[in-house]
Amino acid sequence: MSGSSSPTVGVIGWPIAHSRSPLIHNHWMAVHRVEGRYDRLPVAPDAIEGFLADFPSSGLVGANVTIPYKEIAYRAVAERDPVAERLKAVNCLWTDGGRLVGANTDVQGFVGNLDVALPGWDDNPRVAFVLGAGGAARAVVDGLVHRGYAVRLANRTLARAESLAALYPGRVAVCDFADAARAALQADVVVNTTSLGMKGEGEIPLELHRLGPETIVADIVYVPLETPFLARARAAGLRTVDGLGMLLHQAVPSFEHWFGVRPVVTAELRALVEADLLS
Ligand SMILES: NC(=O)c1ccc[n+]([C@@H]2O[C@H](COP(=O)([O-])OP(=O)(O)OC[C@H]3O[C@@H](n4cnc5c(N)ncnc54)[C@H](OP(=O)(O)O)[C@@H]3O)[C@@H](O)[C@H]2O)c1
Repeated sequence: MSGSSSPTVGVIGWPIAHSRSPLIHNHWMAVHRVEGRYDRLPVAPDAIEGFLADFPSSGLVGANVTIPYKEIAYRAVAERDPVAERLKAVNCLWTDGGRLVGANTDVQGFVGNLDVALPGWDDNPRVAFVLGAGGAARAVVDGLVHRGYAVRLANRTLARAESLAALYPGRVAVCDFADAARAALQADVVVNTTSLGMKGEGEIPLELHRLGPETIVADIVYVPLETPFLARARAAGLRTVDGLGMLLHQAVPSFEHWFGVRPVVTAELRALVEADLLS
């Protein structure tokens, strides 16, 4: 690693102090002997447009983008990958020939984690149920639709679910939040994308003990690591996938875009981030 005072890569957001991305990317930079370092880059809302405009001359190799800047980054780039185009959100930036380029790696984070944790999970795609229709739900729904699932979607704010479903005509059906428990019963994959389950938030209104024994239950929340929702699913004997896996796997394509080497999510890396989350 070089002793340079400026970062090579980083994550932009506001606030950004909570981000675990430096832990992940600095680990891989050390493993692959990549010079430089990955930092948190706090950018205030009144500075984001200028930051993105100056990015190609900033000396940064690349950056991740998190809340609340994924949409503004989408608009700022000269070129985007097809996933970013569908989601209208960019979470990974780099420059190519002086032009700002963007991608979205959240979909790969969600499906890539399932591919590794439960190989063959999508061999016979049927119905998936998604609770929530916020920013992260977009990536989850997109991933499920592109793996062949018919998606049922419920959200506290109905209009938000309806606008998400409208992006996938005939593939995503909206159901009432009050009817979520019944709608989830028919699904092979059930995903919580709401912030319910985070510390201090409420209970997820699904009856997990009534789901079929082969049902896969995923929670994208990773603080706490084992959400009460996942604990209930495990207690009911269901197959589960946690939010930390998605976080780790969404970082893989970013690193590959910047440094041309595809890193691996190892047990050692997972343990490193788990320890940090628990500290
Ligand atoms: N594992 C990962 O890599 C990863 C990636 C991104 C996000 N996340 C996690 O995913 C969660 C959601 O993130 P986001 O970016 O999608 O947030 P967001 O855009 O703010 O969406 C929040 C979602 O939660 C719902 N919600 C919040 N409070 C609720 C309540 N009391 N009752 C019912 N529904 C409620 C919202 O419903 P309304 O529309 O009705 O407000 C909305 O669907 C966060 O915990 C975040 O940390 C994880």
